[in-house]
Amino acid sequence: MDTNDKPFYEHHVFFCMNEREGKDCRDSCGKHGALEAQKHAKSRIKALGLSAPGKVRINKGGCMDRCEEGPVIVVYPQGTWYTYVDNSDIDEIIDRHIVKGEVVERLKI
Ligand code: FES
Repeated sequence: MDTNDKPFYEHHVFFCMNEREGKDCRDSCGKHGALEAQKHAKSRIKALGLSAPGKVRINKGGCMDRCEEGPVIVVYPQGTWYTYVDNSDIDEIIDRHIVKGEVVERLKI
């Protein structure tokens, strides 16, 4: 494989951070703890020593149009989508998908 074909990050994770205002608008991930979850993921990845060039990047993202299934994250290069409820779900995604390369079926959307 040509080295240019290698992904820049081993895993690149996007958290939808979008938050809509108003009672008649669609639901949004920002109303379901996205900011706290993204911060938690970033600090856990750092604590695991995975926050380094070529390893794992945790990014904030905008709406990905899966609002009613949220809050959502997507993990690349696999393109696996997850939802979560709390930090223990984020820990499971990190421990199993990011570290061990397993899909967490119970949180997959
Ligand atoms: S608000 Fe998160 S996917 Fe639309």
